[in-house]
Amino acid sequence: MPLENMKRMLAKASAGKYAVGAFNILDYNSTKAVVGAAEETNSPVIIQTSAKTVLFWGSSAIVSWVNELAGFSRLPVALHLDHCKDLSLIDECIEAGWTSVMIDASSKPFEENVVLSRQVVEMAKAKDVTVEAELGAIVGVEDDIHVKEQDAHLADPGQAVRFCREVEPDCFAPAIGTAHGVYTGEPKIAYDRLEDIATQTRVPIALHGGTGLADEVFRKCISLGCVKVNISTQLKYAFIDGFVGYHNANESDYNPLNVIRAQIGELKRGIAEKMKLFGAAGKA
Ligand code: 13P
Repeated sequence: MPLENMKRMLAKASAGKYAVGAFNILDYNSTKAVVGAAEETNSPVIIQTSAKTVLFWGSSAIVSWVNELAGFSRLPVALHLDHCKDLSLIDECIEAGWTSVMIDASSKPFEENVVLSRQVVEMAKAKDVTVEAELGAIVGVEDDIHVKEQDAHLADPGQAVRFCREVEPDCFAPAIGTAHGVYTGEPKIAYDRLEDIATQTRVPIALHGGTGLADEVFRKCISLGCVKVNISTQLKYAFIDGFVGYHNANESDYNPLNVIRAQIGELKRGIAEKMKLFGAAGKA
């Protein structure tokens, strides 16, 4: 199937009370692992790219990998640009073939966030590209967006309703206490707030900071309305550990294809586990 945007897959997930995994790829190998895990588990999937990854490889290379690996698959696959503050990069990705984009203007004052996010919705709608927008500050490090823990603030339900009414995003990322990167302590998830926001906005919710959350946290967030779950750091670790781990165990093997196979296998295992945990397996 050709790549699709997130609208239909998130609506189906919402009706079926499961979540679609959104995995940040790093290169061709990790893209192959994401698509392979989706095929193995028969799951819909969102392939995500950080802005940094797009700048590193260039948009046309990424689109060619994704089309090559997923374009002929029978699975629903979306290509989504994760946290982007740069409207010209968003425009470039829309033109290049991304089917979904995230505008992250969450560090701006509320009104400015509304205006910028709405501008991206207008840009994207014309091309049938879906838009995710963020409110509040999701702590941690994602790409070059640093939010100090003490500056972090959760999304306010009243503001969330106004934001979603004025911006009309296809997917909404409110800060609810999760963080990007490796958790240093037990995250305090504002479940009440998540429930309020999901029921009052009625917009599909994205859960950020998926790496390191306990299984029961995922289950609870999904039961309260999260239909897209972002996983990035887990792939970074599997990418390095899969490669280095193989070499350490097979020091005299200098056949790079064996190392790549091990790396893809390590990535794929963890991704498939998450797809099953989110309830997406069998839903393609
Ligand atoms: P993690 O790196 O914590 O998995 O978070 C991913 C994310 O939310 C990307 O936007």
